Formats: sequence, C-alpha cells, structure tokens
Amino acid sequence: MREIVIAGNWKMNTNPWEGAMLAREIAGLMTGGNGLSQVTVVVCPPATHLVMVVTTLSGSSVMVGAQNVHWDEKGAFTGEISADWVHFLGARWTIIGHSERRRWFGETDATVNGRLKRAIASGLRPIVCVGETLEEREAGKTFEVIERQIRVGLKEVALTGRGGIVIAYEPVWAIGTGRNATPAQAQEAHSFIRDLLGRLYHPDLAEATVIQYGGSVTAENAPALMPCPDVDGALVGGASLKLDQFMAIIHAAAAAKAAAR
Ligand code: PGA
Repeated sequence: MREIVIAGNWKMNTNPWEGAMLAREIAGLMTGGNGLSQVTVVVCPPATHLVMVVTTLSGSSVMVGAQNVHWDEKGAFTGEISADWVHFLGARWTIIGHSERRRWFGETDATVNGRLKRAIASGLRPIVCVGETLEEREAGKTFEVIERQIRVGLKEVALTGRGGIVIAYEPVWAIGTGRNATPAQAQEAHSFIRDLLGRLYHPDLAEATVIQYGGSVTAENAPALMPCPDVDGALVGGASLKLDQFMAIIHAAAAAKAAAR
C-alpha cells in the first residue's frame, strides 16, 4: 500500500501563537486511533513560526514543513530561506514550486529544480507542486504543462519511491477558489503523472510515489476525492486552518485507505 500524506499549507496565515495552538490541537486529536496512524500528517506554517511549531509538536506524530527553501546553501539572498536551517530547526519537509510562488514571485520550473535539489541535499522531504491554469486547461494543454513542470522541475533528481519526493497536483483554477477538481479530473491527472514518472524513472518507483491532490479540498469533498486510486492524500490550504475541517480530511484519507485494503 502506498503512503498517504495530508499536508496543511498555512500560507501567510495565523500569528505565531495561533499557529502553535492549532498545531497543538491537531497533535492532540491525532492520538485517537481510527487508523489515523496510517496517515502521514504535516503542517507547513510560515517560516517565522517554525521554531514554535516544531517545539509544540515535539513528541507528536505530526511533522513540520517549510513553504519554500532556496537553491543555495547560504549567501547573499535577502529574504530567502535556507533548507539547511529549516532542517536545523527540526522541520523535515518543505513545499516547493507552489503556484503562488510561481505566480507572484517569479518561480520557474528551473528554480523549482534548484530548490528541489537543495531541499533533498539538506535532508528535507519535498512536496513539489504542479498544475495547469484555467487557460491552459481550456486550451487542452493540461498534460503538456504538467509534463514540462515535472521533466524540468525534477531534472537530474533521483526518484526514490517510498519516503521520497511527493508530487502535489494542484490545478491553479482550483486553489483558493472553492472550485475543486472533480474526482474524475483528479484521477485522470494523477494517473497521467504516475505514468509519466514510470516512463522517466521506473514503474515501481512511480507506483511507490505519493501524489497528493490540492485545490479547495474540504471536509465535504475529501470523502469523494480520497478514494481515487491514484490520489494519495491532499495538500490543503484554507481548510487546514480550521481544526475540524483539517481533522475531517485526515479521517477521510484514513477511511479511504482502510477501505482499499
Ligand atoms: P486551498 O489551497 O486548499 O485553499 O485551495 C491549496 C494550496 O494552495 O495548496
């Protein structure tokens, strides 16, 4: 069985105290059984909160990630975040290439590739985001865009399967819009990505790679999205800030995994 990963992308939300409290509440509810231990849970707070959230979660199964890391170890890169130091603080994950980074901060497939290599070298487990815009989907370019993002983004990067790189399929038109991909649309894109990874690497490695869906995932739509055979969890934005929503999504993922047994 593939691993299931539910990650909360808090973006630039919560103040540090609110972030620590939310983390503590999630950790408290993760001890309840119900197959929850079968789900890998990660929270990605703003970089300013990493110390507090890592400290709050010490001893819990909930892991911590950054939202971005730089491609160099250190140096004259004002405002950037060193992967080594994220690791030093005790965070073990990072998001890379989120569409908001691509849209607002000039992230390209090449910078994604650099950041990804550095994240891996620093011992962080990356969640690499890919996905098409609405115009690209309507122009019939969805697969072409995803293929380019993966070919360039993962260039010269080894895929290691279980415990390695996570891919998040996040159609840009579904992020923060309340308009999620249908289970059929998600499954189609995920199976395309798995097939592509199989061709670029090896089918066994593709089979073991976690592919999350992201884009307006909620407690309401997670029960339909999580059972899709190639959907291995979710990257959750808005709903990850609401304790009951986030926990319901984790429960939906655990239930889908149990049912697939
Ligand atoms: P959303 O964000 O769940 O608020 O749509 C998802 C993401 O940006 O990762």
